[in-house]
Amino acid sequence: MILRLCLPIVCAAAACSAADLTGNWVVAQPNNTDGVTRKQYFDLKQEGDRITGHIRVTQFYYTVKESSGGPDKFTITGSMMDGNSDRRVTYEISLVGDELHLSTRRNAKSAPTELVAHRAPAGEGAYPARLPLPAIHKVPDNGLAKTPPMGWNSWNKFAGRVDDAGVRAMADAMASNGMKAAGYVYINIDDTWEGERDSKGNITSNKKFPNMKALSDYVHSKGLKLGIYSSPGPNTCAGYEGSYGHEQQDAKTWAAWGIDYLKYDWCGARNLYTDDEMQALYQKMGDALRATGRPIVYSLCQYGRAKVWEWGPDVGGNLWRTTGDIRDTWDSMSNLGFVRQEGLAQWARPGHWNDPDMLEIGNGGMSDDEYRTHMSLWSMLAAPLLAGNDLGNMSPTILSILTNRDVIAIDQDAAGKEGSRAWHSGDQEVWLRSLADGGQAVAVFNRGAAAAKVPVKWADLGIKAPASGRDLWTGKTVTFTGPAEDVEVPSHGVVLWRLSK
Ligand code: GLA
Repeated sequence: MILRLCLPIVCAAAACSAADLTGNWVVAQPNNTDGVTRKQYFDLKQEGDRITGHIRVTQFYYTVKESSGGPDKFTITGSMMDGNSDRRVTYEISLVGDELHLSTRRNAKSAPTELVAHRAPAGEGAYPARLPLPAIHKVPDNGLAKTPPMGWNSWNKFAGRVDDAGVRAMADAMASNGMKAAGYVYINIDDTWEGERDSKGNITSNKKFPNMKALSDYVHSKGLKLGIYSSPGPNTCAGYEGSYGHEQQDAKTWAAWGIDYLKYDWCGARNLYTDDEMQALYQKMGDALRATGRPIVYSLCQYGRAKVWEWGPDVGGNLWRTTGDIRDTWDSMSNLGFVRQEGLAQWARPGHWNDPDMLEIGNGGMSDDEYRTHMSLWSMLAAPLLAGNDLGNMSPTILSILTNRDVIAIDQDAAGKEGSRAWHSGDQEVWLRSLADGGQAVAVFNRGAAAAKVPVKWADLGIKAPASGRDLWTGKTVTFTGPAEDVEVPSHGVVLWRLSK
């Protein structure tokens, strides 16, 4: 210790015998809003100008693979395997007094983030050991989500700003603005609610959520249900406490709080397990939820890796994400909805749904036509309808898109048969979905940048003309007598019909 404290002086006086960066360093960033101190650890070893060690940041755990520079300033690069991809992070580091100063950039274009680390006891923040995995078995079906779950989730709009008052406000809005009457029921708290574990290892909520039981009582008093979020890893995506090694304990806690829905997000688990081992980890929580005896919808979030649709139901999953995160842009939404669901329709069925991620409707990044496409496409896909906007503050148009009962009826159709693309030409697509009453939903999409006339030829779609039904966005009755119909569809828009048997 004395030697370390003297080092900078030695260096200045004796034309540099280099500073020694060896040690366990912590960057501790308290968050006044939630009361949780976020910690990043740099456990480093210096030999001459070579630096090795580990970096633990939020959900990530990197091994230092490259170092350069010296004797006073170094660049270190950490690397970790994330599925099949090599994820990297780079820091410029230097010793200033007995502080480690760090600078990093999100990407080449972004401004640097400057951090200061202090010495931490050896071993503090070390990544936990890998726990053995259970043998694979089938978790019995929980009988929930016979139609795709409908509700709201905090992440898309509020991310880390979600709190108790906000959740109550969303419940108030949903219960009174027509959404509850249209079928929306889950109020789901996403990441950043988590506090520390208590002395017995029980998970607690952070300052933003003073009393989870009281909050669930409130949400239930509105005739709604409450959802929560966690990870099979030691940390969640935002770096909060995950359920690793506490699966049963956490499930019990949530059940005692009155939780009705869990979104379980892979994130931190990627540092300990491979994609091939996901099923066992998700099964662990599936068993734990079942053991509580409380009906809890189980939502798997692992971005569609490891062909989750093949084993999602076996771990007790009611829905599984099929893609990475949605953003509030036409490109993101249309890529997830039109492209990334290809070939997955066969896996959806009552109780078990493909999840192309939550809705962005009303968040401001798309036009009303684009949001109508979003709602129509998700309904054709039998996707969960989890609104992701501020329910207390939306235009009548947005509310009417979210609560269009005819469109919701397509999504919630009892047969649970996911629709898919039946025809396409360039930017024009026609999708079909078979309905429980023997009818068909027909969605005519125009993904192009200009309005278009889309030729709908009934014979190509296997539909017998004449056909009649309803236009679900205008509410008008439609009757088609000829062999084909030219349909005007706005740019990025949709015409959606429900045709009778
Ligand atoms: C991941 C998920 C998102 C959200 C965030 C929260 O990115 O895919 O839906 O839950 O984590 O940190």
